[in-house]
Amino acid sequence: VLVKVLAAGINPGESGIRQGGYDNHDPDKLPQGQGTDLAGVVVAVGDDVSQFQVGDEVLGWSWERSSHAEYCAVPADQLAHKPELTPWSVAGALDVAGTTAYAAVRAVNPSAGETVIVSAAAGGVGGIVTQLLRLRGVDVIAIASESNHEWLRGLGARPLAYGDDLAARIRALATNGTDALIDTFGPDYVHLGVELGISADRIETIIAFDAATEIGAKAEGSTTVTDPAVLFELAELVARGQLEVPIAATFTLEQVQDAYAELEQRHTRGKIVLLPAAG
Ligand SMILES: NC(=O)c1ccc[n+]([C@@H]2O[C@H](COP(=O)([O-])OP(=O)(O)OC[C@H]3O[C@@H](n4cnc5c(N)ncnc54)[C@H](OP(=O)(O)O)[C@@H]3O)[C@@H](O)[C@H]2O)c1
Repeated sequence: VLVKVLAAGINPGESGIRQGGYDNHDPDKLPQGQGTDLAGVVVAVGDDVSQFQVGDEVLGWSWERSSHAEYCAVPADQLAHKPELTPWSVAGALDVAGTTAYAAVRAVNPSAGETVIVSAAAGGVGGIVTQLLRLRGVDVIAIASESNHEWLRGLGARPLAYGDDLAARIRALATNGTDALIDTFGPDYVHLGVELGISADRIETIIAFDAATEIGAKAEGSTTVTDPAVLFELAELVARGQLEVPIAATFTLEQVQDAYAELEQRHTRGKIVLLPAAG
């Protein structure tokens, strides 16, 4: 399916791939484009494609990392129909963060009433994790800087600043204990889970792979969710107002370097999205 791209999210992993950071985990396949997330309008379909037609509004992903472009060709099974009420900017930024959040929540599979710690709880993935947990009735301790606390409180989470004495501050806040931890920032949080006495099979990280191997924690990410139905479900949650994905900033395709420079500060709330140039 050939898609005219109307919005394409950017993700820290794409910086990491460019910097060779994942060579042991997910070696680069060169030559390679850039960009996984996409949303846009179908402009052409192959003869064997029946589920999409020209003019359909879609969202999806490119394993070829080729979505940061005006047009992107992807197999039909990497696309879902875009719900009308899902904004383009969110639809175009939903795949990596959304499916990773979905996989991370599924990995620790919490029940209503359990207490789950989320690190980088206002980031692209963390913000969605926090809300998927809240939809399950989970008590969320959301680790983030002060600037995100009001937003996280509005989602029904209990925000906590990162920094010194975090384990002690969590124990003081969660007097009935903590049941699981989802890390979306780095290895210190995996070790924090151990320090708090959370069993390894209820610690999930989407980034600290070595720490996960070391302690036997889970490390499930976007590559474990390859079903367009999940992406559609997330887009429907957005359309129904049950999932908020703040758009921290938009850039045109020509400004892609500025977009990554902002992302690499590692203080994004929600997503940064590339849009076509005006006109
Ligand atoms: N395995 C996978 O499939 C997969 C998929 C997607 C992402 N990832 C990885 O997961 C990580 C998060 O991705 P993302 O897209 O959510 O990133 P992001 O949107 O850039 O989020 C960055 C977040 O990190 C927070 N942060 C900064 N310093 C922190 C600290 N010391 N402790 C806790 N939080 C801190 C920031 O919060 P404040 O502004 O409040 O400081 C910000 O909200 C990246 O490393 C990415 O490569 C993996």
